[in-house]
Amino acid sequence: MYQYSLHNRINQACEKNQLSTGDKDQLFYARLIANTAAIHSLYSELYGHHPNGEAGFEELVQTLIQAHRQRTPKLRQKDNTKEKKGNWFLSNEINGMSLYVDRFCGRLADLPSKLPYLKDLGINFLHLMPVFQSPEGESDGGYAVSDFRKVDERFGTLDDLQKLQLRMQQEEMYLMIDIVLNHTSYHHEWAQKAKAGDPVYQDYFYMYDDRTLPDQFDSTMPEIFPESSPGSFTYVKECNKWVMTVFHHYQWDLNYTNPAVFNAMLDNILFYANLGVDILRIDAPAFIWKQLGTTCQNLPQAHMLLQLIRQCVQVAAPGMALLGEAIVAPKEIMKYFGTGLYYGKECEVAYNATQMALQWDALATGDTRVMLAAQHDLLQKPFGCTWLTYTRCHDDIGLGYEDASIIAAGFNAYGHRKFLKDYYSGTHPGSPASGALFSVNPKTQDARISGSLASLCGLERAMEAYDENEIEMSVRKILLMQAQTFFIGGIPMLFYGDEVGYTNDYSYLNDPGKSYDNRWMHRPIINWEKNARAKESGTLEQKIFSATQRLLQIRKSLPVIADKKNLTWLTPHNIHVAGFLRQDQEKRLYCLFNYASRASYLTWYAFKEHGNAPKRLYDHWNDKKLTVGSDYEYLVIDPYSFCILEVIE
Ligand code: GLC
Repeated sequence: MYQYSLHNRINQACEKNQLSTGDKDQLFYARLIANTAAIHSLYSELYGHHPNGEAGFEELVQTLIQAHRQRTPKLRQKDNTKEKKGNWFLSNEINGMSLYVDRFCGRLADLPSKLPYLKDLGINFLHLMPVFQSPEGESDGGYAVSDFRKVDERFGTLDDLQKLQLRMQQEEMYLMIDIVLNHTSYHHEWAQKAKAGDPVYQDYFYMYDDRTLPDQFDSTMPEIFPESSPGSFTYVKECNKWVMTVFHHYQWDLNYTNPAVFNAMLDNILFYANLGVDILRIDAPAFIWKQLGTTCQNLPQAHMLLQLIRQCVQVAAPGMALLGEAIVAPKEIMKYFGTGLYYGKECEVAYNATQMALQWDALATGDTRVMLAAQHDLLQKPFGCTWLTYTRCHDDIGLGYEDASIIAAGFNAYGHRKFLKDYYSGTHPGSPASGALFSVNPKTQDARISGSLASLCGLERAMEAYDENEIEMSVRKILLMQAQTFFIGGIPMLFYGDEVGYTNDYSYLNDPGKSYDNRWMHRPIINWEKNARAKESGTLEQKIFSATQRLLQIRKSLPVIADKKNLTWLTPHNIHVAGFLRQDQEKRLYCLFNYASRASYLTWYAFKEHGNAPKRLYDHWNDKKLTVGSDYEYLVIDPYSFCILEVIE
């Protein structure tokens, strides 16, 4: 709602900063005026009762103006180009990869020389795992940041990062980095000052004199790392206080009830935006607001903070989209796209953690019913927002979907989850997988799963046994899992190493800074001799690489795959086959995935339930044309195989 008084305040701030409301600052000024009422209202709801609330708002406006000032003409131009494209991140032409700079190639300065390898695979979007300063040994893979603006010397310098960004921009590649919003390392300057007794900085964290409040919080907060970091508080002897540490003891939770914390972190966000980041991964947003008597996850204020960030980013750096890394229950994930007035206006992108876990479910059971039962929620995604789709990432696999989906598919939820955990940790008789349980909670028996894509698909065991048939099956499983994530809609994010089938790496066990965290087993150190085999015919690496490459090419060639909320699941006719139709005006594409270890038969009738019955189909993956048969005839899909069928007649 337009408010004259706010408009006036903005004009005063612009005058004070000699900002010209005409020519070069005009667009910024228009965005600022358009969003100020929303920014003010969100800010007031969060901080209206705080003594520094109003002053904080003034400071926030200053931060936006400064960030706009510091945005280079090149980036402003890129903002305009993206705006003209409209929701550029929905495109079928974006294919991502997530990687650790050091484990992939060494240092930031070495990465440009690897861009040709990535481009050859079909990658034009990179997620660099955290590169900002983080104490070695207590870094949680970089997610314990001690300086948000200094690149850790292990990776190089800020200048190297900027050079890489420029190079990527020239190559028309997109960049994603993280803002670790929920916590800092206990070595961060704010934490150091808090530890030294400075009350101003103690208020940047949740610090308590005794265990009274921590005990109350602990009674309702689930533990995130129950094995390595039980409880959510850590005693700090230097200042004789208990500090909230939801993740590891060395990651101190930031107190967003304090407007100074929000303002400082927003400033960091805009600093990243001005480095040329295209998508900012907001790490662990579910946790950013805490309230006694709750789980301290997914609280309404956490969403308000994200909405506020989105409004501010749209003003100062409109080309940067936000990815919410909310790995929570399906209904909760959806809320990160925004609700109510902010429907579709919170995070533009969210991890499709539900679909990822459901594919692992289907792979273990050979049954797609649970996957199907959960789709209703996922289809509620607002138009204009998209998923980040993936099979593996640096984290564990959580089986976070609803029990109701398991029950709807006819299984017992407890028994079903137990089977999946046993299957992927390789203890279920006959399981081909070699993974491990991560963060087992002895009280609830909850656990997640670690392991690389290849190892969980059985490649590690098959190679140990020199079993050619099992090797073939595991490669098919790898491609089946990848294919579904490439075609379901959203930005596919590959995890480095998976394109050539890296199996688990157990060397982390020899490093005391990592041995307590088995997620390191699926974070490989790249051996470039192995990756070079991607170009040697007959090798396993070549088989996986070239198939992945071809899948990405097919995706890129089919605009119907762009995420225009144009997906319809096929009525199930065979429990082993997951199938959906992607449709855009005249273009229609049937995507079918057989999760069974045997050939599956799908009645041709399945193709005739959605609009005009097709007569002829072209299978992009198997490169053949098919004639649609009668209802009593079948399309036969090989074990762990798939078809990408375009209607040609
Ligand atoms: C996110 C990261 C994970 C990290 C956690 C704490 O979930 O993906 O790796 O441990 O946040 O920062």
